[in-house]
Amino acid sequence: MADIKFFSGETVPLEMHKVRIVQKLSLIPVEERLQKISEAGNNTFLLKNRDVFIDMLTDSGVNAMSDTQLAAMMRGDDSYAGSETFEELSAKLTEIFGTGYFLPAHQGRACENILAEVFVRPGNIVPMNFHFTTTKAHIVKRGGTVVELVIPEGTVASSTHPFKGNFDIPALEKLILETGASNIPFLRLEAGTNLIGGQPFSLENALAVSKLCREHGILTVLDASLLQDNLYFIKQREEAFKNWSIRKITRKLADAMDIIYFSARKLGFGKGGGLCMRNERLYEQMKGLVPLYEGFLTYGGMSIREMEALTVGLEETMDEDIISQGPQFIRFMCEELEKRGVPVVTPAGGLGCHINAADFLPHVDRHEYPAGALAAALYIAGGVRGMERGTMSEQREPDGREPISSMELLRLAVPRRVFTLSQIKYAIDRINWLFHNRELIGGIKFKHEPEVLRFFFGTLEPTSDWQQKLVRKFRKDFGNSL
Ligand SMILES: Cc1ncc(COP(=O)(O)O)c(C=O)c1O
Repeated sequence: MADIKFFSGETVPLEMHKVRIVQKLSLIPVEERLQKISEAGNNTFLLKNRDVFIDMLTDSGVNAMSDTQLAAMMRGDDSYAGSETFEELSAKLTEIFGTGYFLPAHQGRACENILAEVFVRPGNIVPMNFHFTTTKAHIVKRGGTVVELVIPEGTVASSTHPFKGNFDIPALEKLILETGASNIPFLRLEAGTNLIGGQPFSLENALAVSKLCREHGILTVLDASLLQDNLYFIKQREEAFKNWSIRKITRKLADAMDIIYFSARKLGFGKGGGLCMRNERLYEQMKGLVPLYEGFLTYGGMSIREMEALTVGLEETMDEDIISQGPQFIRFMCEELEKRGVPVVTPAGGLGCHINAADFLPHVDRHEYPAGALAAALYIAGGVRGMERGTMSEQREPDGREPISSMELLRLAVPRRVFTLSQIKYAIDRINWLFHNRELIGGIKFKHEPEVLRFFFGTLEPTSDWQQKLVRKFRKDFGNSL
């Protein structure tokens, strides 16, 4: 966002866009909210959108499109083969990343499926700064093991470290020596590290990781799904690159990577995904799986209209005024919550505002999912839908043990260009109310627990009648207010 000062001295994230299409929202009364979250098994994924007021579940596929994206959607060339739309998207990716080869896929996890199938064998180790749920599931399914090597500050919720998504380079060196490079099919570097609060890596760190991998002949894979936030933070926080353009930073990073994949539900304000590479051999290794799992090589399961929007969205991603909106709104939200004493992940990252549920609800046992319970409580308190990112999002060990996640977060995503500042202030207000009433909030336990990615469809119930008590307190404090 442009540097625009207020006479009042206030720091206000000022949008460099205006809204031209709107969607009506409604807020159902608190008693109905309790009923709806109970019907949804206390899992915010299972709520119906019509019952949600402020949807902060995710930034995935729900970012607002620009007028130029919408206009581009009208001129897609949807011929099955040889589509002009594909050529344009492919050329845009090559222009930005310098790659040359592009394999389209229907979304991010489809790319992970292809990567895991082609490269991962039983017993392999895949180092990453931090795992993402779907990435890990695909690797584990192929018999591989994910090793997380984020710097120790990465999982410290409250910190001033500007790049908490950095790889721990000495730990990586040690792992390579112990494991042997031949047992590492690839290293994955995740931009805007999702599960630890949307935290970026520095360009310096990414270059060092790449250098080490190249010395050992290890393939480097960049998960660029949350790249736009990470690019903004590199420019803002990394002295050496503060005068570089976003485009130049992107290219420097891309040149250090062998494969770049992304969820276009996040990167590029659209829907879809794909894998980019500059090596023909890598392209040939993966190419055959696209028609098998995704669709023909010129669309890979994406709608042609979305591909048009993505080409424009990728160009918009190179505009600092555009990519700063998300991080600046998130910073506002985090700072306001901090002022009220609410424990949030700091420094504010990309993707969303992350509440440290372990500190918010220290009285709730980690096996009773504090972040999941807080997500249910926030829906009851304000119709705000967040997402649990903690132990519930982990998978049980093969022997049934439940690993306690290193962080227990309630993620409140701030989809790009979607919410107004007054809506953000409303969410802050309801979180603040909950914080004042945190003693009322109890735990939740599984009623039905799926084996894989249990957080998506699992259903849970409260461990006591704490939710009824919360509703009674809401009525007492807010009277007839919705
Ligand atoms: C960092 C990261 N990688 C991969 C994915 C998977 O992408 P998709 O949801 O499009 O399958 C996501 C989705 O949230 C993500 O945040």
